[in-house]
Amino acid sequence: MKLEEEKQSKEKEPKSDLKKMNKEEKKELTVQDLPGVGAATAEKLVDAGYSNIMAIAVASPGELVDAAGVSEASARKMINFARNKLDMGFESGEDLLKKRAKVEKIKTGSKSFDELLGGGFETASIVECFGEFGSGKTQLAHILAVNSQKQYPEAVTVYIDTENTFRPERIQQLAKGAGLDATKVLKNIKVARAYNSDHQMLLAEKIEDLITKQKFNVKVIVIDSLTAHFRAEFIGRGTLAERQQKLNKHMHVLLRLADMHNICVYVTNQVMAKPDMFFGDPTQAIGGHIVAHASTFRIYLRKGKKGSRVAKLVDSPNLPEGEAGFYIIEEGIKDFS
Ligand code: GTP
Ligand code: MG
Repeated sequence: MKLEEEKQSKEKEPKSDLKKMNKEEKKELTVQDLPGVGAATAEKLVDAGYSNIMAIAVASPGELVDAAGVSEASARKMINFARNKLDMGFESGEDLLKKRAKVEKIKTGSKSFDELLGGGFETASIVECFGEFGSGKTQLAHILAVNSQKQYPEAVTVYIDTENTFRPERIQQLAKGAGLDATKVLKNIKVARAYNSDHQMLLAEKIEDLITKQKFNVKVIVIDSLTAHFRAEFIGRGTLAERQQKLNKHMHVLLRLADMHNICVYVTNQVMAKPDMFFGDPTQAIGGHIVAHASTFRIYLRKGKKGSRVAKLVDSPNLPEGEAGFYIIEEGIKDFS
């Protein structure tokens, strides 16, 4: 920068804002600013969900090779460049605390269930709910889609439905129960039916576009069910590794969405019988450690006495294990008494 220009630009910005300006400058970099990336490659990257520098920085070279057909060496160059630009160093505990302060908690309607989760379903996390058929996993998905709008009027839910169990009529009932305008609530739920696991993965990758291009204020993402297609398509042990690899990639796309856009990603999972188990609950979640590990919170749902439901928190970063009971009713869910 020439001296004269430098002087002018300094005059324009007060000194205290210089640091801020630097940060904004970094934010404004696009994928097209990456080394060796022209318009065509940039388009491929964006189409595959790598729409900003952060997405590139946290990608693996293999992912970018797949997404844009670039060589592994160029992919590495792009990732290194993005990482340098992003200052991906350590954050202080204080910064993380500030980030945590932005986390929102979506209420379920049951006090005991909310308490079990430390206040409700958290944004910036993946919440996995597993349990047998009819345990209420899909009902909870509908409830989150409605209640998120009760708390945040312009909140959008992206609902990926793999089993054709999303019911707009149920949303109408729940919206009425929450005292909301059902038409408006339905408008803010974007539903896509996923026909197979590849389609499901593609839909998840497209959510980034809804946020960055269409500017939807996405607060909740539902994947109901996360594992059904994977389970049906990869039968037998021979293909298990491939299934887990795809599931892992899928979970990472979801994790990135949750983290980068402060979204609550709610995924449902079936259970299978564990024939060799004689004591305790003889069921375990599909998807194995890949799903378990990527999920921030894990809830086991089961049917309780007299038509009630019991939610058990089996895994969470900072909450004790515990249980909460509730009823599913026409208006939503409610506590025992
Ligand atoms: P799968 O997808 O089959 O694994 O089950 P799921 O865990 O998704 O179950 P789901 O959420 O579909 O739960 C269905 C159950 O919720 C029904 O059997 C009912 O008991 C209950 N339910 C759904 N709607 C209502 C309602 O309006 N009122 C009441 N009282 N219960 C309801
Ligand atoms: Mg269901």
